[in-house]
Amino acid sequence: MEIILSGIRSTGQLHLGNYFGAIRNFVKLQHTHNCYFFIADYHSLTTHPTPENLQANVTQVLVEYLASGLDPEKATIYIQSDVPEVCELYLLLTMNAYVGELERCTSFKEKIRKQPNNVNSGLLTYPVLMAADILLHKAHKVPVGKDQEQHLEMARTFAGRFNRLYNNDYFPSPKAFNFGDALVKIPGLDGSTKMGKSEGDANAIYLADSEKTIHKKIMRAVTDSGPEKPNQEKAQAIQNLFDIMTVVSDKQTIAFFEEAYSKCTIRYGDMKKQLAADVYKFIEPIGNRIRELNQKPEFIREVADYGAEKARKSARKTISEVREIIGFRTV
Ligand code: TRP
Repeated sequence: MEIILSGIRSTGQLHLGNYFGAIRNFVKLQHTHNCYFFIADYHSLTTHPTPENLQANVTQVLVEYLASGLDPEKATIYIQSDVPEVCELYLLLTMNAYVGELERCTSFKEKIRKQPNNVNSGLLTYPVLMAADILLHKAHKVPVGKDQEQHLEMARTFAGRFNRLYNNDYFPSPKAFNFGDALVKIPGLDGSTKMGKSEGDANAIYLADSEKTIHKKIMRAVTDSGPEKPNQEKAQAIQNLFDIMTVVSDKQTIAFFEEAYSKCTIRYGDMKKQLAADVYKFIEPIGNRIRELNQKPEFIREVADYGAEKARKSARKTISEVREIIGFRTV
């Protein structure tokens, strides 16, 4: 069975955009593929060397993924730092990752600009650690967004180089996994085309938001003064509300407001009230599970341990084989 692997950033509450982007698709993939999903907490030190709430953040992300439907029995779900075998593979891969190619990496150049006072070598070798994450389980496919394509390309380079250097075909070449149409882009509430936390909290609806918060955020969403002539084209902010409606509301509701818009009878206040109710109806079961799981820290720890054990089994095998290929004594 094809092996799919994805790393998840370790900070930040998950929002509706994350859900209709990666998460929902991960949940589907776990039924059809051998999936590895891990929270990339080692990587987070490249930008946050002394995170205040490292454990709490990692736990929160894990809770929210579980609440969204990731199943520890179906997929291998683990925390990167619980599987320190990745560090050995990382070390071995650095030996044939050239400084020049790492320096040319777009994300590295961006980080130099963003944090000129902390150009640590972890930033430079970020793509090597990411390649180690992928190759540790000999993954075939990696779901990546545009911003990670170059990193994946580098993972292919390192895998190919390893294979050539040691004259074998040990590592499969990891390819991008494309969700295609299943990837639904959720716009922001501030009129921007993307829901994201970097745009400010009012722009995003978090999976853990209460009914009241959702209502407040949606009622405050950007609109315009309303259509002035029949069938007028919608401004971005208005289109955004309709786009969100498309994923949470039923067909009749959408048709009703589409018609009201084209006939210039729409009342945005009514539409927002409906949208807030439908968004909450959609999110409520996930939010409830988040709140439930937050009450069970021991259970979350057990899930993490269980995932780490599964991941380490696969990791140890790879490490031992790689050591043998290079010529080290296997341990
Ligand atoms: N770099 C990825 C991001 O910022 C996270 C990540 C770390 C990752 N290791 C990975 C993604 C391995 C896919 C495979 O989103």
